Amino acid sequence: MESLQKRVELILSSETSTEEKLQKVCQLLHDEVPHYNWVGFYFKNGDKEELKLGPYVGAPTDHIIIPYGKGICGQVAVSNETFVVPDVQQESNYLACSLETKAEIVVPIFKNGENIGQIDIDSHVIDPFTEKDEELLNFICSKVSEII
Ligand code: SME
Repeated sequence: MESLQKRVELILSSETSTEEKLQKVCQLLHDEVPHYNWVGFYFKNGDKEELKLGPYVGAPTDHIIIPYGKGICGQVAVSNETFVVPDVQQESNYLACSLETKAEIVVPIFKNGENIGQIDIDSHVIDPFTEKDEELLNFICSKVSEII
């Protein structure tokens, strides 16, 4: 079995639209990593200080638009740093997507030094994310940056 990294690279180099590539990356991560229960991309919405939901796999969310600073995603848009939340109940600035969600990780995507979006993962398990997740997601964000 090829590594997840290799499979992501294959998807991103395939002959299809950016939208479809990102959708397939979400599906792959959702299907292959048991503690990834919602996987999606948010991107800066034009010139506005807000994020807009892109491709995702998992329960539908009300959070299509997220103002900068709001929730975990909005905080990452401002801080430019990965945010790991082991237990979402401990966070006051958090936007609930599903009651099943226990933990979340958000990793920023940079293009030419600018924070242009992020990958957001929700888990139904408390405290599931390790350095391995950060490594994998950093890799994916840098590869996604190349095709955006
Ligand atoms: N929980 C996120 C909102 C996005 S949903 O998880 C899909 C947040 O607090 O920013």
